[in-house]
Amino acid sequence: MNKQLRLKEKIKEQYGKIALSGNTEACCMPSSDCCSTTDITFSPLTSSKAIGYDSEKLASIPESSILGVGCGNPTKFAHIKEGNTVVDLGSGAGIDVFLTANIVKETGKVIGIDMTENMLNKARENAKKHGYKNVEFRQGDIEENIPVEGDSVDVVISNCVINLTSNKVNTFKEIYRILKPNGDGRMVISDLVTSTEINEKSVSIENWCSCIDGALTKANYIDSIKRAGFTNVVILSEQPYMELDDNTENNKRQISSISISAVKQ
Ligand SMILES: C[S@@+](CC[C@H](N)C(=O)[O-])C[C@H]1O[C@@H](n2cnc3c(N)ncnc32)[C@H](O)[C@@H]1O
Repeated sequence: MNKQLRLKEKIKEQYGKIALSGNTEACCMPSSDCCSTTDITFSPLTSSKAIGYDSEKLASIPESSILGVGCGNPTKFAHIKEGNTVVDLGSGAGIDVFLTANIVKETGKVIGIDMTENMLNKARENAKKHGYKNVEFRQGDIEENIPVEGDSVDVVISNCVINLTSNKVNTFKEIYRILKPNGDGRMVISDLVTSTEINEKSVSIENWCSCIDGALTKANYIDSIKRAGFTNVVILSEQPYMELDDNTENNKRQISSISISAVKQ
């Protein structure tokens, strides 16, 4: 199996476990070894508030959709309107899908896409149990083919997912394909970027799964978005996320969380 496939299998395995446990082991948190025991007191709710989610809004959605694995709050910046069609890439247990469903109401629709079976099951259970009629969860690999019709979506959102893909330009091209044309479709995404990219040989599968080793520099991230055809690329927020000591390269990496928007003309 090549490294890219092994990465994908590991991502599914790891996020599958998180879906089942509700992330009680605090996987993929800043300064923690992924899925190891740590003395950091972690709760998905507290962690979500710390990255910018509003307590009242979180109280309005199913609690088990909140896993504390995001790195920003794209819905805060997206100016989503009633009636919009919105797609959330790497939707996990559905946190941003449910928050958005409450905004677009019955005349709108939210589609969550994820490749991990256990995440999809958890999100669908939440939707059924809480009577959401305007949401749907579909399985797909966002860097291969987003299972959504072209030119059909008002807003694409995503929270801490694109760093996990191996081919970022392909992912952005897929997003571009499904958005409405002529300036009507846009993406608003939160993700992690790094001060220095790690060289391919030093990539650790564990660190990639924890959203670290797959991160691009901000300049390369923006360049990938533009190479996919997007215009009006705007950084909406930027915050330090964690600092990582790379023993191998005698180097410190500064990881930041950014939220960014871009338009399909
Ligand atoms: C860090 S979690 C974020 C989940 C969610 N956005 C949140 O904030 O709770 C990453 C999610 O992206 C999914 N994912 C990773 N790579 C993917 C890919 N290539 N295609 C579809 N889903 C992917 C994982 O299964 C996981 O549910």
